[in-house]
Amino acid sequence: MAYFSAPVYDYNMKYSAAQTKQLSELTLQLKNKLAFAEADINSLVEILNFHEYRYYVLNEPLISDTEYDELFHALKALEAKYPNQVNQNSPTQRVSSDLNSDFPTVEHTVPMLSLDNSYNADDLNDFDRRVKELSGETEVSYVVEPKFDGSSIALLYKNNQLVRGATRGNGVAGEEVTQNVRVIQSIPLTAELDKLGIARAELRGEIVIRKDVFDEINAKRQANGEKLLANSRNSAAGALRVKDPKEARARGLDAFLYQLGYAVDVDGNDLLQTELVRHHDNIAHLASLGFKVPVTESKLCKNINEVAAFVQEWEEKRDSYEYEIDGMVIKVNERHIQNKCGFTAHHPRWAIAYKFKAKQGTTKLLDVEFQVGRTGAITPVAKVEPLALAGVIISSISLHNEDIIKQKDIRLGDTVLIERAGDVIPYVVKSMEELRDGSESPIVFPTECPVCSSKPEKPEGEAVWRCINAECPAQIEERLIHFVSKDAMDIDGLGKDIVRRFYASGYLKTVEDIYQLPYEEIEQLEGWGAKSVQKLKNGVEASKNRKLEKILYALGIRHVGLGTAKILVKEVEHLLELKDFTQERLVELQDVGPKVAQSITDFFAIEKNIELLHNLESLGVILEKPAADEAAGGKVLKGLTFLFTGTLSKFGRNEAKDMVEENGGKTVSGVSKNLNYLVVGENAGSKLKKAQELGTVNIISEDEFLNMIQ
Ligand code: IVH
Repeated sequence: MAYFSAPVYDYNMKYSAAQTKQLSELTLQLKNKLAFAEADINSLVEILNFHEYRYYVLNEPLISDTEYDELFHALKALEAKYPNQVNQNSPTQRVSSDLNSDFPTVEHTVPMLSLDNSYNADDLNDFDRRVKELSGETEVSYVVEPKFDGSSIALLYKNNQLVRGATRGNGVAGEEVTQNVRVIQSIPLTAELDKLGIARAELRGEIVIRKDVFDEINAKRQANGEKLLANSRNSAAGALRVKDPKEARARGLDAFLYQLGYAVDVDGNDLLQTELVRHHDNIAHLASLGFKVPVTESKLCKNINEVAAFVQEWEEKRDSYEYEIDGMVIKVNERHIQNKCGFTAHHPRWAIAYKFKAKQGTTKLLDVEFQVGRTGAITPVAKVEPLALAGVIISSISLHNEDIIKQKDIRLGDTVLIERAGDVIPYVVKSMEELRDGSESPIVFPTECPVCSSKPEKPEGEAVWRCINAECPAQIEERLIHFVSKDAMDIDGLGKDIVRRFYASGYLKTVEDIYQLPYEEIEQLEGWGAKSVQKLKNGVEASKNRKLEKILYALGIRHVGLGTAKILVKEVEHLLELKDFTQERLVELQDVGPKVAQSITDFFAIEKNIELLHNLESLGVILEKPAADEAAGGKVLKGLTFLFTGTLSKFGRNEAKDMVEENGGKTVSGVSKNLNYLVVGENAGSKLKKAQELGTVNIISEDEFLNMIQ
């Protein structure tokens, strides 16, 4: 069983610690050099290849990009001066200037097969059973690794040199894309495969684009008004086939190798049958030669249950992984067992793909609605035929703005590709142009606000149309919802739906109305009663004592999030002092840029906004920081009543009473409608029961109480 103890991989194996130190010292010497000579060419090639490996394979650069660029240019200049000295492994030779217009077809050394799919634990158990039946083994270990969602590639190395890169094609023959493969810095142009006795090898892998690199590329394309790339898989496949390798380089390609597909020694002996007989070890060998392989991402599992657990673990964390993956691949580790399993015409019987739940799907775009937000932004929202994606039914998707609709050429009636990644809101990847039948029509942006009919505006440099009528009912309603929301005034008992209802019935027209609600009338409404009204009252009362940053955030000033609000309130004793802040003063604050500063001064320049703050103050909302002598805890409990019941473990009764009073609250002796908070310890009895029956009392733990006064 010794081999079950996974070997300890040193991910830096290509260069030993001593070599790393030596190459770093050499880097330092070269960096400090004022003039380079012909003799420096080889050293520069050596250190640049080393730093490319650190950067592209290990993701642990030792020098900055600028330092790298300087050394790279020094090498380029030397090579221009001494063309005879240009080494084909030089990093400058990754990009050849020749245009390559057609890709010859080449036959793979061994066919590139695809994988059978599995979708659940039952499928995995079936696979395990088949492997055992075919091989006659009772215990089989499997290697599990990510299934990279990119474009597959076969790399041929002869005598340690990369000589060919080919796409999968039809599996037997593919397109030769060596020129474009050579620009990918995570693919070594040379590797000491001879250390493993290999004279000729074909490595299989996947060309991928890191998620953040892909997003960056698309952001640039958007800024330049170019068509957006649909996803990293298509753009990797596309980039591999571009005619100009320089263009391929600009597409940020990366490569993971996951299979030693073919390996022979100088005499043509198949090493995969004799020496290199365990997949997990082969991957480690490739890592030590400088290839980018899934080492930390993969696991050698003792049995199929371990496989299922590992696969599950990855399904949960796939969204936080740097690369797109659409499943995991499970491979029998040992060659002799693989041999006994064999192949079908299409796939090996010793490996299987486990596909994660779909994140993408297609559906029909039925309609587009235009919604007006708190700041007047008019957002197009696509209504689609309901689609189940990764466990959620999607029927409504934001299309963000007009530019995006134009760039993606989305039309009414289109079949659209939808993607949902983790917590990310679903979005339309693209329209399926090939499925159009001519009945589709363009999405027309309204020329007036869909709610108040005023003429919208699109400020210079912005992508969003805005309704600029501050009295627009949609905006007022959204502002109210924002005002009472959790991060803002956090008014318990006044949720989104209630705000909408009260707005419609006229109880809430302005923010001030929140503090002048007609409680008697509300109590008579359907679905309301004494308990729910008391709860609402308590919520509204408690909100009068919110921290200044929450009040500032609640005002909904554009670009002022809770974080910025915190920074701003540190500067004042009273919220209204902010009206005297100039832009110069504001931009001096941490994280406040000119855009934010402008927005703040704009807000306070409007008389109505100042009036609103004065009104809130006279309605009891505290806009002032607690005085210095109360600063330690602040009077956060002002106006609130407390009762403690049960066995308290964090503080004594008297101590509790002191804490309440110090913070401006009152303690009462019995449970009644006038009680705001019941703090319960262990074994609470009749008081707890009574409070539960009343339904108007907030029941909290000792810890929650401590949090309130912190
Ligand atoms: S192994 C004989 N391992 O998935 C084994 N494939 O349908 C052949 N893929 O075309 C493939 N990640 O492009 C293997 N870790 C991985 C992979 C992987 C992605 C792709 C590959 C292949 C397809 C299988």
